[in-house]
Amino acid sequence: MSLSTGTSVGISEETAGKGDITFPKGFVWGTATASYQIEGAAHEDGRGPSIWDTFSRTPGKVVGGHTGDVACDHYHRYRDDVAMMADLGMQAYRFSIAWPRIQPDGSGPVNPRGLDFYERLVDELRGHGITPIVTLYHWDLPQALEDRGGWTSRETAERFAEYAAIVHGRLGDRVETWTTLNEPWCSSFLGYGAGIHAPGRTEPGAAFAAVHHLLLGHGLATAELRAAGAKQVGITLNLAPISGNDPLAVAHIDGLQNRIFLDPVLRKEYPADVVERARRFTDWSFVRDGDLDLIGAPIDLLGVNYYSPTTVELRAGQPANPVHPGSEGIAFVQGDEERTAMGWSVVPSALTDLLVRLSRDYPGTPLIITENGAAFDDVLVDGRVADERRIAFLDGHFRAAHAAIEAGADLRGYLVWSLMDNFEWAEGYGKRFGLVHVDYASQNRVPKDSALWYREVVRRNGIRS
Ligand code: FCB
Repeated sequence: MSLSTGTSVGISEETAGKGDITFPKGFVWGTATASYQIEGAAHEDGRGPSIWDTFSRTPGKVVGGHTGDVACDHYHRYRDDVAMMADLGMQAYRFSIAWPRIQPDGSGPVNPRGLDFYERLVDELRGHGITPIVTLYHWDLPQALEDRGGWTSRETAERFAEYAAIVHGRLGDRVETWTTLNEPWCSSFLGYGAGIHAPGRTEPGAAFAAVHHLLLGHGLATAELRAAGAKQVGITLNLAPISGNDPLAVAHIDGLQNRIFLDPVLRKEYPADVVERARRFTDWSFVRDGDLDLIGAPIDLLGVNYYSPTTVELRAGQPANPVHPGSEGIAFVQGDEERTAMGWSVVPSALTDLLVRLSRDYPGTPLIITENGAAFDDVLVDGRVADERRIAFLDGHFRAAHAAIEAGADLRGYLVWSLMDNFEWAEGYGKRFGLVHVDYASQNRVPKDSALWYREVVRRNGIRS
């Protein structure tokens, strides 16, 4: 299977009924997870501490004081988890590598036992016919690097490129698709600006420095991966369609959420309006000659994480939203649409708008949905989770993605967040995003109704109404 295959809309082998949709031939279906959210084994086989170990131990930062120490114990149960994926008919699996397992101090000596684990995982996946999609950084920065400035420091970007080369050196002969970063918006604005995520700093200027050094890390790692012969290299961004009744407010937030990442990666420039507005927080002196050429080197695939749109309106006296530095006077509003357990609005049509916009404004880069899904208050009753709201959510979003393909978007695949319930960052274990239910006390896994429904979608490469 390859993510670079054809994009023509395929013909269903079975008789298509009204309301049925079929995805293009070669469209890739799967699920996604991240190391800190599922692996556990936080102190095993030489893993060093990450910023999430530190942050989750800081009182008041994570609901219930939960940590990823045990999580889904996937580090020990990966064989069963891969077998479960295979049972569910999954074609691809996006997972992340824990940098502190590979380099416990973030630089210098390599811990071979860390690489061994991911090699075993990749072999297990391939043995079951599941395509591995590797994310190199899904937020678990080695604490030793944070102690030297973390993403506010240029050095972290350089170390990240070295780490990327190390991982590729071990897995490059069996992994084709590489994602450098997951959601640098969260790492920078939630981690360094609002303090909601690790490392918990609340300095808007540091958030902009982190944006740049994350992107530089992406660029430097991309160069390393290319030099080593990686087949497909991309980055995953969390993008949110922004709408509202004031075009300037919309442009302002679109700049801070979307264009500040899209423009450097896909156009080799920071958006001028964002740079101007951020001058009260930073002089941008961390951007050096040549950086944008590195950051904007061609990628093969843009990973899109989509959960919910954002609606804004002008409101005099509104204080800035800490996750969007400089957003004074802009209110974030929600309509009366359905919301998930996270409080996120359910608006599938916004996914169509987003994918069509990306194809229009940034043409030529194939797209893959690297995350989409929802948390609901699932309950396990007599061995079953009847999560019909998640089925409806996914059905709506798959149809929205299909509509975007019909409108010309070059979408290659869809990875549902998440394979199984897991550690939902600052929310701890209370928010369940999984297709598979996890009982954390027993580590028992039970596929929810949505998992069984999804298996049929994958089998048909579409939805039958
Ligand atoms: C995204 C993260 C992912 C998960 C989902 C719900 O922002 O990339 O790890 O937590 O949200």
